[in-house]
Amino acid sequence: MAIQKVGVVGCGLMGSGIAQVCAQAGIDTVVREVGPEVVEKGLTGIDKNLARLLEKGTISETQRNEIRGRLKGTTSLDDLKNCDLIIEAIIEQLPAKRELFSALDALCPASTIFASNTSSLTITELAAATKRPQRFVGLHFFNPVPVMKLVEVVRTIATDAEVYEHMVDFSAKLGKTPVRAHDSTGFIVNRLLVPYLLDAVRALEEGVGSIEDIDNSMKLGCGHPMGPLTLLDFVGLDTTYYISNIMFEEFHEKRFASPALLRRMVLAGWNGRKAGRGFYDYSDPKNPKVMKF
Ligand code: CAA
Repeated sequence: MAIQKVGVVGCGLMGSGIAQVCAQAGIDTVVREVGPEVVEKGLTGIDKNLARLLEKGTISETQRNEIRGRLKGTTSLDDLKNCDLIIEAIIEQLPAKRELFSALDALCPASTIFASNTSSLTITELAAATKRPQRFVGLHFFNPVPVMKLVEVVRTIATDAEVYEHMVDFSAKLGKTPVRAHDSTGFIVNRLLVPYLLDAVRALEEGVGSIEDIDNSMKLGCGHPMGPLTLLDFVGLDTTYYISNIMFEEFHEKRFASPALLRRMVLAGWNGRKAGRGFYDYSDPKNPKVMKF
């Protein structure tokens, strides 16, 4: 059951990255978005990434053209019906994802494997919207997808063992390192990352250190590529707030409870890099400045 054609639903930051790595791995890839302008935006981002790889000599011009030739954008879900695997990377909302999977279930043959890139929702609940829970896994990629080496391959109590191993192999074929995780809210990475990010906000709230000093501590003291407050801006404060609320609801543990400052910043729309401001001001994106509170 080799995966020869992949469908990716969603061509935002994560979906476009997933489509890019699938096409780079030699797999025909169809990426679907709701409107032509969103498809175009996603494909333009991929073109920029490929141009950068070409410029650096990582790929040749022929390879770039081959990769691009394997990628097709569409607004029609119908174009995904003959895919061997469909990876969903749409908005992180349960009703929207369940509705999508239910429609795909009616459209695709019984052999198609379904995967979700969700970071916080329960795979079991998404799989329950289909008649193929045994052919349903989580494939959780990390931002920026072309760079980050990890994929969490998530199995539910209903996932077929052979399908699961196939998805572990598929993730390795994409050039990623797969890790095996059970369908526990947040899987492995967010179980550890979310409390760490929330604690950094608590440390700031309690005056333990300044924004810069908290970030530099973890960068220079622990070798992290980004400090936690920079990473919060990168991931999105709204996204982290949303994930933390789901995790708190699931585990009822204080470590997943959102600090007041994070909630205030989300309410103010200071959602990080994408909003132009978070813990840093991104008016000049190449030279972020620490925000004053
Ligand atoms: N797309 C493609 N390539 C990118 C990229 C992007 N968006 N951003 C950076 N790169 C590439 C650059 O081209 C560069 O490639 P070369 O080394 O081949 O030249 C390389 O990545 C390094 O980039 P930079 O030199 O510009 O910057 P950097 O060294 O600071 O690296 C970074 C940038 C890779 C983002 C690094 O800062 C990093 O690893 N940060 C942490 C990211 C992280 O933790 N991500 C996970 C977030 S959690 C998540 O996604 C899941 C969730 O559920 C919340």
